[in-house]
Amino acid sequence: MRILTLHGPNLNLLGQREPEVYGRWTLAEINEMLVAEATKRGTELRILQSNQEGVLIDAIHDARLWANGILINPGALTHYSYALRDALAAVGLPTVEVHLSNIHAREEFRHRSVIAAVCVGQISGFGRHSYRLGLAALLDYLLER
Ligand code: DQA
Repeated sequence: MRILTLHGPNLNLLGQREPEVYGRWTLAEINEMLVAEATKRGTELRILQSNQEGVLIDAIHDARLWANGILINPGALTHYSYALRDALAAVGLPTVEVHLSNIHAREEFRHRSVIAAVCVGQISGFGRHSYRLGLAALLDYLLER
């Protein structure tokens, strides 16, 4: 399997950014954990973090040429980016949305995801484990299809 893993705006600051909300793990450490999990399951991961919506959208478009699925933490784009949602819908690759924090237990504006409806599912609130669980869920889904 080949999976595109996308991290949206501000996730490059993990480890320093509001650690009481997002935990103390850096993005590099989360990526290392994901690569280890993927390797165990014979899966290739291509990982990209960007603070630019368009860069994420371009990566989603390119993924239709090589990926079996997408694992994405869209960051704040979750709550308002119809362009990101449309890109995922256009490409049609099975996608799992993940969040470190439980977005439903936070400020009102975070309760809504405009991305979730074009995803297989959403995992939210388990800190770094959300990524691990999201990858496992995506691979299980792809293998059962
Ligand atoms: C986040 C939740 C979003 O509301 C926030 O804007 C983020 C991170 C999370 O992983 O918990 O940047 O996606």
